[in-house]
Amino acid sequence: MAGLEVRDLCKSFGGLTVAEGISFDLPPGARKALIGPNGAGKSTFANLVTGILAPTSGTIRFDGRDIGRLTEAQRVRVGIAKTFQITNLFRRLSVRENLRLAVLERERRGARLWRRADGDRAVEAEVDSLLAQFRLTDMAERLARELAYGQQRLVEDHRRDRGPARRSGGADHRT
Ligand SMILES: Nc1ncnc2c1ncn2[C@@H]1O[C@H](COP(=O)(O)OP(=O)(O)OP(=O)(O)O)[C@@H](O)[C@H]1O
Ligand SMILES: [Mg+2]
Repeated sequence: MAGLEVRDLCKSFGGLTVAEGISFDLPPGARKALIGPNGAGKSTFANLVTGILAPTSGTIRFDGRDIGRLTEAQRVRVGIAKTFQITNLFRRLSVRENLRLAVLERERRGARLWRRADGDRAVEAEVDSLLAQFRLTDMAERLARELAYGQQRLVEDHRRDRGPARRSGGADHRT
């Protein structure tokens, strides 16, 4: 199976075992929420998967590859990123401009060379289609900060999915 496969993951801090025998699958396209009381080990689990903490034992595979000993930066490169409750849009740019930046960023990364006029049209067409997909066409010219939180998240998730992941770790993560 591709996706994330965690087996028998354990983490101890000195004598304190905070994660024990965790097995967890996340197939491509799936979403899972992890809930539990304070101190249950949610942040520890996220930190183990993203490489901020090293496991005491157990394996973490992603798309068939053992990533349990990769650094945080190496895991970002294979596609594991951590995102935070605080959204990271350009709040003073419009919704359309935020999406356009995401599309342009991806095109640069792919080093796809378009003739400028055609390229601009293709980018705008993709932005329009994203706006429609997110049901944000009516909000296109509004500032990103005017969107509801869930709408901001849609735009932001798109930026993360399409652009290079580079926001793993960070000061605003609540632990
Ligand atoms: N670096 C550490 N050293 C020692 N103990 C730790 C460390 N990090 C976490 N713990 C302990 O591990 C347990 C799990 O903590 P964790 O932060 O993962 O819980 P959580 O589910 O994220 O809680 P919260 O809902 O408060 O965010 C707690 O008992 C915590 O005190
Ligand atoms: Mg936590």
